[in-house]
Amino acid sequence: MEIVILPGRTEIGMMAADVIESLLDRKPDAVLGLATGSSPLPIYNELVRRYRSGVLSFAEAKAFTLDEYIGLPDQHPELYREVIRREFTRHVDFAEDKVHGPDGFGVDLSGACNSYEDQIRAAGGVDLQILGIGTDGHIGFNEPGSSLGSRTRIKTLTEQTRRDNARFFDSLDSVPKHVLTQGLGTIMDSRHILLTARGLNKAEAVRELAEGAVTALCPASVLQLHPHVTVFLDEAAASMLALADYYRHSFQHKPLWQGL
Ligand code: F6R
Repeated sequence: MEIVILPGRTEIGMMAADVIESLLDRKPDAVLGLATGSSPLPIYNELVRRYRSGVLSFAEAKAFTLDEYIGLPDQHPELYREVIRREFTRHVDFAEDKVHGPDGFGVDLSGACNSYEDQIRAAGGVDLQILGIGTDGHIGFNEPGSSLGSRTRIKTLTEQTRRDNARFFDSLDSVPKHVLTQGLGTIMDSRHILLTARGLNKAEAVRELAEGAVTALCPASVLQLHPHVTVFLDEAAASMLALADYYRHSFQHKPLWQGL
């Protein structure tokens, strides 16, 4: 796991967009794993900017979102398939039918989860997965206690996550209690994982992710077992890391040929 501590959202957006641009140069039909929420917004903004300036195209790419709420009415603005369209994909040349998300609308939800796994597999797996992290250490909506090998399935949100996400809704009561989410095992199958976090409220979860024990109590800690994870943090999110100085030192002295 490589930890990169950056001054703020602009630098995080630029560096993450560099990684995605270089992937799309090598592999224009790359499969991207997209997170929603506030953390990836600087990345999406920078990707949109680069698309508009003609340096980047998603015309051949495919995307899979991480998770979806259950129980919101069709076209609700907080459905993640609406959020990803609004925040990112409709501003670039992503084909609508190449952006997939778990389908929380059918009667057979567990069938929908299995078919989502099949779709990801049929696409050849995710080349680059973008992740945020919850204050309770979740990735996707794999809340504490999630099986480290889990696949796409239904989860119940913790009250902490519902409170954190209430800012996107009219009230806490409107935040759904259930979601479909890629499992930790599904996320771990991605070839490269790029996690980003900003702000002091993420510092504890980030410490547990990178320096704590690998445990279902902090689902993100499973990423310690992945061979290629890049973590972009601002100073506040990095502020509880015991080895922060070492991460800064290694990044400063990183040989250029090594890449991210
Ligand atoms: C969203 C997702 C979540 C968020 C996490 C952090 O698709 O999977 O894991 O990344 O809840 O949310 P923000 O970025 O809003 O702090």
